Amino acid sequence: MTDALIEALRADTPGCAGPRVHFNHAGASLSSRRTLAAITDHLALEAEVGPMEAAVMAADGVARTRAAAATLLNATPEEIAFATGGSAAWGTAIASLPPLRPGDRVLVGRQEWGGNLTTLRDKAARAGAGVEVIPSLEDGRVDADALAGLIDDRVRLVSLTWGAANGGLVNDAAAVGRVARAAGIPYVIDAAQVVGQIPVDVRALGCDMLKAPGRKHLRGPRGTALLYVRRDFLDKVTPAWLDVQSSPWATHLGADHAPVSPRDDARRLEASEASVALQLGLGNALEQALALGIDHIRARIHHLAQGLRGRLEGIPGVTVRDIGDPETRSGLVSFTVEGLAGSAVRARLMDQGLTLGANGMPYTPLDMTTRGLTEIARASLSYLTTEAELDRLADALARLAP
Ligand SMILES: Cc1ncc(COP(=O)(O)O)c(C=O)c1O
Repeated sequence: MTDALIEALRADTPGCAGPRVHFNHAGASLSSRRTLAAITDHLALEAEVGPMEAAVMAADGVARTRAAAATLLNATPEEIAFATGGSAAWGTAIASLPPLRPGDRVLVGRQEWGGNLTTLRDKAARAGAGVEVIPSLEDGRVDADALAGLIDDRVRLVSLTWGAANGGLVNDAAAVGRVARAAGIPYVIDAAQVVGQIPVDVRALGCDMLKAPGRKHLRGPRGTALLYVRRDFLDKVTPAWLDVQSSPWATHLGADHAPVSPRDDARRLEASEASVALQLGLGNALEQALALGIDHIRARIHHLAQGLRGRLEGIPGVTVRDIGDPETRSGLVSFTVEGLAGSAVRARLMDQGLTLGANGMPYTPLDMTTRGLTEIARASLSYLTTEAELDRLADALARLAP
């Protein structure tokens, strides 16, 4: 990605124009003008012709969003459902799986997102089942060989948060998939911190379901998410609830007790009521990511993030907290500053026009507990980030550190 291209992309992004520098792309990134226009144009159309009528006119656009999502993940459009957020997509997926029974086991990685973990623990506790953590390699990534050793006929689910929310660690999701697939155990991936910044190939991953929100590295709008469901896994997927879209009324059967038949595609997990404007905005963001090429995006973000880690390592009082394989790390750079809580670092940098995240225990409770961390500051980058912005962040931290 040339400097000229980055300049053009930044010029097309209102959030890059102001005095603030955005280092919270992992929380939610900055949308392009074209993505915003796709949303506002449709809202204007809704106001003019009526929302239901506008939806009919936009049907091809929404289909293009689904097709773009499928292309991005190496899936088919029939394997893609839309949702309103990452947790909503994940919860819908998990709720659709066969119920757990006493003695069943659910295996999770150490970087499991806190909300996922709570959901699984609750589900397991109600059933008398258990949630266990797969052992990690020395660098913190999930140990796929150790997972193989845990498998028995009571394991009902393997759940993996692919990219950690509290730093750059990226698990080897394909290695985990090989073990789960060989054992025939459902495998669900939370790819919130991966999709849009790292190439994703659901076939190579061997996963049954995978989800990601639109607002993070894809630069789509809030209130959108993608849920992939493998075609041949559909028969294991029973929606927790149905509506007129996920299970059209079986009028031809003509009986009140007609058998319920959910749709024969991933949209059996999708709600009929949704924001078409946001789905169109997401489509624009997806098409933009595809046009730029995720390989190129990945290379630039990796280079920038390694550059930031190098800068931070040179500042006394600042400790980079990223673990995992340095070669595969994401654009999430985590660190602590001696004597300052992550939230205080965030507040102090915010005063200087630098926007970043601070993560406490709840997002990644298992990993934070294992490492004895209570809070980290997190600078998350985009391909929109520039070297000059990294310098500005490093300078601000050098002034902040004791
Ligand atoms: C790995 C991971 N999983 C899940 C979530 C929650 O997603 P959402 O806020 O879209 O429900 C996040 C949000 O940051 C995340 O990073």
